[in-house]
Amino acid sequence: MILGRLNHVGIATPSIDESIAFYREIMGAQLIRAPFDMPVQGVRVCFVETPGPGGTEGTQIELLEPLGPDSPVAGFLAKNPAGGQHHLCYEVPDIVAARAWFEGQGKRVLGETRIGAHGMPVFFVHPRDMMGVLTEIMESPKGDKH
Ligand code: CO
Repeated sequence: MILGRLNHVGIATPSIDESIAFYREIMGAQLIRAPFDMPVQGVRVCFVETPGPGGTEGTQIELLEPLGPDSPVAGFLAKNPAGGQHHLCYEVPDIVAARAWFEGQGKRVLGETRIGAHGMPVFFVHPRDMMGVLTEIMESPKGDKH
């Protein structure tokens, strides 16, 4: 397991539109991507860009709004109606090796490795096995300057 950059912070929200207004008007976000639906994962997603040093890409904020009552984010919002921090996503160079590592450490990997919102394979690890943080592991985009 080789820890890579912090790719994004996942934030659950009852309204992506309200969150976009907040990041634009209060937080001064200069670049907010177009929201899109990920029906398989039951969420609507929007990426807010935070710039990195020297014009590099920084860490993103991933806004997550449930598409329906069965969404995994719906349960989170039931407990946290105003929304809040949902998960952290770290990049790794090799998703297969990373999954084998966490499983070998006895960590509960949630579900299958699947293609995430960046078009790269991801998996999630249970927060109770990760010092309280729901953790998404994502393979680094190839040919990317990250
Ligand atoms: Co994520």
